[in-house]
Amino acid sequence: MLEANRRAWDRMVEQRRPLCQPASDAELADPLAHVDPLGWLGGNIRNWRVLCLAAGGGRHSALYATAGAAVTVVDLSPAMLELDRAVAQERSLSIRAIRGTMDDLPMLRDGEFDLVIHPVSTCYVRRVAPVFAEVARVLRPGGLYVSQHKQPVSLQASIDPQPTGGYQLRHTYYREAPVPPPTESCSSAARLRESGATEFLHRWEQIIGGICRAGFVIEDLVEPVHAKEDAEHGSFADRARYIAPYVRIKARRRGSGPALWLP
Ligand SMILES: C[S@@+](CC[C@H](N)C(=O)[O-])C[C@H]1O[C@@H](n2cnc3c(N)ncnc32)[C@H](O)[C@@H]1O
Repeated sequence: MLEANRRAWDRMVEQRRPLCQPASDAELADPLAHVDPLGWLGGNIRNWRVLCLAAGGGRHSALYATAGAAVTVVDLSPAMLELDRAVAQERSLSIRAIRGTMDDLPMLRDGEFDLVIHPVSTCYVRRVAPVFAEVARVLRPGGLYVSQHKQPVSLQASIDPQPTGGYQLRHTYYREAPVPPPTESCSSAARLRESGATEFLHRWEQIIGGICRAGFVIEDLVEPVHAKEDAEHGSFADRARYIAPYVRIKARRRGSGPALWLP
């Protein structure tokens, strides 16, 4: 499964897919506006030690480094990490790029980071609890964990609309097996699912409850809006009118006590 996902992301880099594009000049001119539109980070992250987890591709690492943070990026895909190394060299940024899987981070020290940024990617591991336990371990007490996840219902639902409008609930909620790949091959399928990747659905109790049980307090939660009222029938923005594709969570590492870890 790890190997299939590594291959899928390496291939997406070859295809120059949107999620494999380094930060642009316009984004780098005002990096915090792009990575922190809600102001969760308080407006200044100079000298923060930031882990960009499963965040290769040269976008997150470059934006946080340009905002003044000391950045480490961990990703499964060597091709994604090459984009981070290339942007670091081109922009004279100091970025540490490490290959690894998000649920096992032995190369990182306890309490090493002030902030962990985790873009959508927990869908690529079977179990999320070990990921949250590792994030809790490498964050200092009081540190922030900002993560984004695919919403379970978005993974359950059809990509194409029903003839009468709306979307069909296609896959079970309680499941150990990966979510079957979409049968559709339209442009919104490419935005919602990564071709060739193995993806798992995590229930709300596993995402929200899992973050709390790992030793965090959730301070905020938003569902970024991708819906457009006048969206073309069956487009990504139309589907988002019915089903919010993602959730973004701000969590803070609790004090010094040990994290509770439930398998
Ligand atoms: C959404 S992309 C990352 C960020 C992207 N550049 C962006 O702009 O949002 C998800 C990343 O997760 C990585 N990934 C998949 N499975 C992983 C795993 N088990 N451990 C670490 N990274 C993983 C992929 O290689 C990919 O780079």
